[in-house]
Amino acid sequence: MTTTPEQHSYLRAATRSAELESLIAAAPGQFRVLTGDRPTGPLHLGHYFGTLANRVRLQDFGVGVMLLVADYQVIADRDAVEGIPGAVLDLLADYLAAGIDPRRTTVFAHSAVPALNQLMLPFLSLVSVAELHRNPTVKAEAATTGERAMSGLLLTYPVHQAADILFCGANLVPVGRDQLPHLELTRTIARRFNQRYAADAPLFPEPEAVLSAAPLLLGVDGQKMSKSRGNAITLRDDDDRTAALIRSARTDGERTITYEPDRRPEVANLLLIAALCSDRTPEQLATEVGSGGAALLKSTVTEAVNERLRPLRRRRVELAADPGYLLDLLAAGNAVARDLADATLNEVRQRMHMCYQSVG
Ligand code: TRP
Repeated sequence: MTTTPEQHSYLRAATRSAELESLIAAAPGQFRVLTGDRPTGPLHLGHYFGTLANRVRLQDFGVGVMLLVADYQVIADRDAVEGIPGAVLDLLADYLAAGIDPRRTTVFAHSAVPALNQLMLPFLSLVSVAELHRNPTVKAEAATTGERAMSGLLLTYPVHQAADILFCGANLVPVGRDQLPHLELTRTIARRFNQRYAADAPLFPEPEAVLSAAPLLLGVDGQKMSKSRGNAITLRDDDDRTAALIRSARTDGERTITYEPDRRPEVANLLLIAALCSDRTPEQLATEVGSGGAALLKSTVTEAVNERLRPLRRRRVELAADPGYLLDLLAAGNAVARDLADATLNEVRQRMHMCYQSVG
């Protein structure tokens, strides 16, 4: 059997991720993680089990975590910005409610860290236009924006992400499989910068991917769970809204509940959600619900989700009531990120012979 380059790099990353897990456990202080989200809406269960819980786990291990509110990335494929301030507050409340501890994790926003953004300029000089056009994730994203012409920022946002990662010297990036090409580009940029401008003393480490182990969750309509589709169980919702959403979930015509992901994807997805929330297996839950059918399945899922999220949601309500506190935390994180970015940009300028201050 032949493997495509994409499969090859996935397999390599998967093997390496497993090794990294044991290195992290042995010496968490050696690692710095950068990760983040675009502020486009409240986080949902897919984010929670996919990435958020893992960030909290790394933080609690003692890994330094830099958590980016990627506001500049929002305008890569849309122009409406009115919703951003609210989405930023939502994101901050979701992070903290889920266990992100601002004393240990730096939360910051693109737009507040000028030197980070300035790094994009020398980085752009290190990649070719053909390389940018080849990026499969950018191609897929451009396809979903439909009629809209691809913006220069959408084409180059993987370079911006390289700046996000490299400005703070992150050496670990938790990613989903679809983001692997971006990380490969970041590694290329780090390597080329070092070769071209820092041959004697490399400036940037080549960051590595930690692949998320979490299964892909579908929304209640059986499509990909997504902020914009209205099919997502969000952390922000309350018990009643979650109950209503799950009651409306698609199932199938078969009475007896079984766990068969290929043949019965909607039912399997509901079982998976309940299983993740109650630390059981989908098979176990299927047996318990059995001939109780879709109605019992839905009430079981609702109870599991609401039970699991209850403490998080209680904290979240308190946090959301105090936007001043959330914004102060962000301001403090921004200040930390600015210091790091200024120091990195200075190093970059020095390596590029672009420091003109008199030394005297
Ligand atoms: N693209 C990510 C998202 O949409 C957010 C992000 C921006 C990011 N820069 C990054 C993730 C750098 C990892 C590394 O959620």
